[in-house]
This record gives sequence, structure tokens and C-alpha cells, in this order.
Amino acid sequence: MTNFLKNKKILLIITGGIACYKSLDLIRRLQDKGADINCILTESAKEFVNTITFESLLGKKIFSNLFTLSHEKEMNHIKLATEVDVILVIPCTANFIAKMANGIADDLATNILIASKKIKIIAPAMNSNMWTNNAVKKNLSTLNKMNVNVFSPQRGRLACGSKGSGKLMEIHEIIENLNDIFCPKELNKRKILVTAGASIEKIDPVRYISNYSSGIQGYEIAKSLSLHGAEVILVTGSTNLEKPRNIKIIDASSAKDFYEKVSGELPFDVFISAAAISDWRIEKFSQNKIKKNNNEKLKLGFLRNIDVLKKISNNKLRPKLVIGFSAETSNLITNSKKKLTEKNCDWIVANNVGIEEVFGSNYNKVSLITKTKTNHWPKMKKSDVAKKISKEIVNFFKKNRLIS
Ligand SMILES: Cc1cc2nc3c(=O)[nH]c(=O)nc-3n(C[C@H](O)[C@H](O)[C@H](O)COP(=O)(O)O)c2cc1C
Repeated sequence: MTNFLKNKKILLIITGGIACYKSLDLIRRLQDKGADINCILTESAKEFVNTITFESLLGKKIFSNLFTLSHEKEMNHIKLATEVDVILVIPCTANFIAKMANGIADDLATNILIASKKIKIIAPAMNSNMWTNNAVKKNLSTLNKMNVNVFSPQRGRLACGSKGSGKLMEIHEIIENLNDIFCPKELNKRKILVTAGASIEKIDPVRYISNYSSGIQGYEIAKSLSLHGAEVILVTGSTNLEKPRNIKIIDASSAKDFYEKVSGELPFDVFISAAAISDWRIEKFSQNKIKKNNNEKLKLGFLRNIDVLKKISNNKLRPKLVIGFSAETSNLITNSKKKLTEKNCDWIVANNVGIEEVFGSNYNKVSLITKTKTNHWPKMKKSDVAKKISKEIVNFFKKNRLIS
């Protein structure tokens, strides 16, 4: 991982959760990366960890109180708020999420967040009942709209002894995600369209045909490209995923709808077709709900759908780079290479959905097939697959001297 954290000014706000102690490990690792760290502890956080421990590790004073801070000569809360590159709240309590979402400014940490226009990130950690509580969900959705990044907690064993969601993201992942935020914006001015999720073909007003695609891979690619500075458009089918910020989102349902929405955005520089779009549609949509009556069988006719990838690949405004996805259950590489030629695309990301648990999983094992090479990547997180694809795209533009 290239280190983009060197000399970055990071303000850590530690709030009063049981995972407080983990922020010490974060500080150590950020110091190793050469980051310049300042630290604030809320009054509750001081019930969990000792100020002296933080000050010894940091080798400087930590801040806590709004009013004593105003007596400091070299530091005031506006300075702390503005002279940073990023503010990370770790761990972030349910209480602190609520305060941020509602603009409450009753201590040093909340005042700084209100006074700062810098990148804000929270890494929540709490009991799973708290994490799934509707008030917390509502506040998180508000923070999302306020452009606050959320390093989402994971499932695992929680401090209260139960298992569930709400565990602080692993420190090494927090470092990786922080690092990504500072990655060079090499795809600046590049317009990239990504499709994701499952298509829907209606049978009658209450039924449809769809597939197991979760959309995770496409969403991760869109997010990663956006971090690289690209102007990303995400044409998305049905998913349960949180809509990413800073990305233009266009909803699509049927294959025809996907095609119209995608082609309506031409021209763009890169097309990544990660959506699972049905090859077939119902021959005759029934205006009324199809009744069972006394029938033991129901026969439905199907027609071939429009091939969105092939159409865009052969469009007169064809993007410079067209990347398809190939989900196969047999002869993965042979079938994917055939697809590459038949659909006239530049790269195919091939995955075997027959043996690997891919749909809905956060992991993927793919091969990147181009006209000249096939690279088999090991099983990794879909977010890491996304990072690798982004890197390949950056290299493509560099190699072709297309980086502006
Ligand atoms: C033992 C103990 C553990 C706690 N752990 C958490 C936690 O992990 N996450 C959380 O959101 N709140 C937790 N709380 C509740 C917070 O400490 C409480 O809401 C507090 O007001 C947070 O203050 P702050 O957000 O200003 O730091 C815990 C409380 C206690 C007593």
C-alpha cells in the first residue's frame, strides 16, 4: 500500500465507548505512517482511558475542555478545526452520532466539528441493539447527507459478550480507508459510468424476474473510482445498499431501462458493466395479476433482452475503455474470453459464481481478462477488487498517455 498519510494532519476525537483503548493502536500506526496527530477526548472517554496514556504516546498535550482551551496561547478551537486535513471520530458513540446529526455543540469536540469544513469521518462502535436502533439509523442517514464518511462497524464478538454488528472496524482497515481518502486524484476529469445490482423484468403487476446480485461489487468500484477523483455515475438496479455520496445515482429496473439510462449519459470515458442484467424478458406482460384458477402449470414465454454491454461497446460514442463482468458457472475463462470478443469490450472481470459464494458476500475471486493477458487474482474483499480495478484503470490512462 502506497503511503499517502505522511505529513497529513489528522485530528482524532475519542468518545466514550468501550472500544476507546483501540484508538491507542491507531495512533501508534498512524505515527508509523508519518501522520501528524492531535487528539481530543470527550469527558466520557476519560472514564474509559487515561489522558496521560494518550499524552505519553502522542508526546503532546491532548485537548478536552472548550473553556480551558480558550486560555491556551497556541491553540484555540477554531485553529484545531481548520488546521487539519481530516477529523476522525473513533470510536464514535451513539450519543455522539446524535449530537453531530443535530448540530449540538456542548463540548470542545462537537464545537470543532461544527466549526470545521474539513473531511469528517466517524468510526462507530456500540452494542448491536444500539447499532440497529431506528434513532441511530436516522441520525446516520442525516450524517450521510451531511457528507460525513462512515467507517461502518463489523459483525463480531462485542464487549457486552454478545455477537452481532456494531464492532469497531479493524484498525488496519481504518488505516487503509484513511489512506484511500488521500490517494492522488489521477482520474480527475474522467467521466466513468458503472452499472450495479440486479435488473427486474415484470411478469404482472405483482411479480417479477430478477437475480441474486447484491450490487456490492459495482458499488465498491464506483466508490473507489470516486476516491481517485473520477466523476462517477452509478446506474443501479435494485439493491439494499446505502447510496454512495459524491456519485450521481440513477435508478434502473429492466434491461431496456438500463440501456436507456446508460446510453443517455454518453459520452463517457469508461464503462463498467457490473450489473446483472437479465438476458430475457417476459414475452407478454400481464396487465392483471395472473390467477391460479385451477391450473397446475404456468407457461411463460421469454424474449431476448437488449445486450447493454454489447450496445455500448459498439456505439459510435464508444468509451475509451469498456469493462464487462462475466459471472459463469462453468468454463469460466473460455466463456469469458468468448464474451470479450463477442461483446467487443476491452476487459472482462470474470468470476465463477458456481463454486464461490459470491452473491451477497463481501468477498470475490476474479480474473481480469484483457486482449493480451489473463490475471488471476486471489480471493479478496470486494472493496479490494474495486481498488485493484481502479489501479488498472489509472494505469490504462497513464500508459495511453491519457492522464490529463
Ligand atoms: C461501560 C460502558 C460502556 C459503554 N460503551 C459504549 C459503546 O461502546 N458505544 C456507545 O455508543 N456508547 C457506550 N456507552 C455509553 C456512552 O458512554 C454514553 O452515551 C456517553 O454519554 C457518551 O458520551 P460521548 O459521546 O460524549 O463520549 C457506554 C457506557 C458505559 C457505562
